[in-house]
Amino acid sequence: MTERSPGTAAGRLGAPVVPIVEEGELHAAVAATTGPFDAGAGIVLRPLTSADVDAVTTWRSLPEVARYTSRPPLDRAATARFLQERLADPAALWFLVERDGRPVGEVAGRLTPTKSIVGPTHWWECSLAYTLHPDVWGAGVATRAGRAFCDVMFTHLPVHRMTAVCFAQHGASARVLTKIGFRQEGHASRVVLAWDGTWWDDLHFALLREEWTTPSTA
Ligand SMILES: CC(C)(COP(=O)(O)OP(=O)(O)OC[C@H]1O[C@@H](n2cnc3c(N)ncnc32)[C@H](O)[C@@H]1OP(=O)(O)O)[C@@H](O)C(=O)NCCC(=O)NCCS
Repeated sequence: MTERSPGTAAGRLGAPVVPIVEEGELHAAVAATTGPFDAGAGIVLRPLTSADVDAVTTWRSLPEVARYTSRPPLDRAATARFLQERLADPAALWFLVERDGRPVGEVAGRLTPTKSIVGPTHWWECSLAYTLHPDVWGAGVATRAGRAFCDVMFTHLPVHRMTAVCFAQHGASARVLTKIGFRQEGHASRVVLAWDGTWWDDLHFALLREEWTTPSTA
């Protein structure tokens, strides 16, 4: 049963995370969550801006990057439109992932109210997504960036639950989510008509605030 008066939760930086009911208040808290945030091993999350369009185009334009996402490869103009849309969303957090000072990808999330049958819950759910340049694949960058993102959500915002979805055949993404600490909660069969004209399955993952343990940045 959903809690009616959930109170506060301990943030790992000392200050309690305060529940937020009003959307406007939530949007202000999202806007104030800017970083930069250290993910360890030279990896840093910093707010993504429209000035990052050239960097983002270097990976968003590649077919191997688009393959298991819901967007086709994007040229510079399409990337600029995509950034504009996403940056205008007050419920979304979107970070550039830098490694050793160079942009190598993005990690993002969007907050929505948690479901309730007894009135507002004061707590929020956040989806997780990540996209990296193939030059850095296989080096643990998505895992570190994803962990740091979850830590920011649980530490700075009233996030009750992180969620993530990947295509069933996207073994690398499912592995990243498992390494971060997500549990697979569901499998949706033949749910998306994909690029190849066949129906693909989705895997649904989640990670609760009480399941989260602070990552080491070593
Ligand atoms: C998916 C993606 C984010 C992974 O990034 P990454 O930095 O390479 O991830 P990591 O190095 O942290 O971890 C990858 C893990 O997947 C494993 N892996 C790679 N390919 C795999 C496959 N086909 N099947 C199963 N596991 C696989 C790796 O071995 C590694 O696990 P390990 O550390 O236990 O060996 C990256 O490939 C990407 O940006 N792809 C394009 C965009 C995209 O698909 N985003 C996700 C949409 S759901």
